[in-house]
Amino acid sequence: MKTREKWSSLLAFVWVAAGAAVGLGNIWKFPYMAGSFGGSAFVLMYLIFVLLVAIPIMAAEIMLGKLSQRNAVDGFRYLAELHHKSKSWQLTGYLGLTTLGLMFCFYSVIAGFGIAYLYFGATNAFLDKSPEEVQGIWVNFLADPVVVLFCSFLFIFFTMAIVYFGIKKGIEKSCTLMMPGLLAVLLVLVFHSSSSGGFGQAFDFLFSFEPNKIQADVVIASLGHALFTLAVGACAMMVYGSYLPKRTSVAKSVLIIAVLDVLVALLAGLAIFPLIFENGLSPSQGPGLMFVSLPIVFAKMPFGWFWGTLFFILLFFAALSSSLSFAEPLVDHFIEKLGMGRHRAVLLIGGLVFVGSIFCALSFNVFSHVKIAGRFSIFDLVADLSTNLLLPIGGIAISIFAGQVVKLEDFFTPHQKYGHAIFLLWRFLTLFVAPAAILIVMINSLWSAIHTM
Ligand code: PHE
Repeated sequence: MKTREKWSSLLAFVWVAAGAAVGLGNIWKFPYMAGSFGGSAFVLMYLIFVLLVAIPIMAAEIMLGKLSQRNAVDGFRYLAELHHKSKSWQLTGYLGLTTLGLMFCFYSVIAGFGIAYLYFGATNAFLDKSPEEVQGIWVNFLADPVVVLFCSFLFIFFTMAIVYFGIKKGIEKSCTLMMPGLLAVLLVLVFHSSSSGGFGQAFDFLFSFEPNKIQADVVIASLGHALFTLAVGACAMMVYGSYLPKRTSVAKSVLIIAVLDVLVALLAGLAIFPLIFENGLSPSQGPGLMFVSLPIVFAKMPFGWFWGTLFFILLFFAALSSSLSFAEPLVDHFIEKLGMGRHRAVLLIGGLVFVGSIFCALSFNVFSHVKIAGRFSIFDLVADLSTNLLLPIGGIAISIFAGQVVKLEDFFTPHQKYGHAIFLLWRFLTLFVAPAAILIVMINSLWSAIHTM
């Protein structure tokens, strides 16, 4: 077996894995979902699921990767053989790669919107525009298939260009530059919003305890989001873990990555909602929160172009560092399993994803009349299928497998304090709590989907 490249340090790994976790999920999706699902009720459930479901699965994935030192498919196969389990576990690897490929397609469309808005922000396109005019910019932008496609293409190009340079010189270097930059920009934005009149209201909206608002749809949405935001269930973290030396203790890193991820989501909420409330806009705008409501605010704010540009730089960094984790596991698979060179694998995956993203992008204009099952656009189908169905199924498989094969000594370096107790807790959560929670929520959401048909 060819030796695989390694991250240069554990810290570098933390930046890279945090880069995978912190993404559109935190900056774009979390605020609009919190806005649509009643604020604090959603936040509370999301925090519970991060703790009980997503963090244990993240630890599981990283450890599986570290133990296997292989691409996702071979990794499952190797570990299954080693522990006398069925070879079919490798299907989990294929499932993960399929999920990543589909997510990459829809993700690059939204990230492409972000690139366009970065350009609008920097060129002061919103200055003194009325809310209707800002809405008009969005509608006109979406209606133009060439521009939308070009933006997705640019995003895929940036991602693949970084992956082309490999683990250390590409992914690690870019994430260790982008992630601290992202945190700095976010702090500046929160600081700026904290002086706005809507800060108190935003704080209450996100953090006041209102258990009566926790309904089935809130629970379903928050579990799906917890998995998505921590980048677990699709083998991305597993492949990142496979570039770690076999003897690394990762428990602490997992916690740091998760805390960073949650913090960025909450801070993004605290940067966005004060501006929304101060301007009397609705928090429950849905996906357009970022692309319509915020620009309306920037249009009338002093130095709006500056704040707008900063916001979309933040979105771009977050999206790019995450999409690397869609691309690398796929490229890794083509290199190791199919014997391709990195350069050719990058071209091939980039090309395939671009074709997939064409369908997603055109569903906002040329194919906007296509509604599958009378309801879903092509974009919705790809996004929902990958995040609400494939990702949870992958999460269940990964956690059950890891719960059986990972040992105490894989988790901790010997003699670490409380090691045994934490290991037992982790195993309980991965073997029972996480799969059961995901299953219950999935059955529930299928049930309600059938009922609303
Ligand atoms: N965590 C990323 C985000 O929040 C998305 C992602 C999901 C990345 C699954 C990798 C794997 O945007």
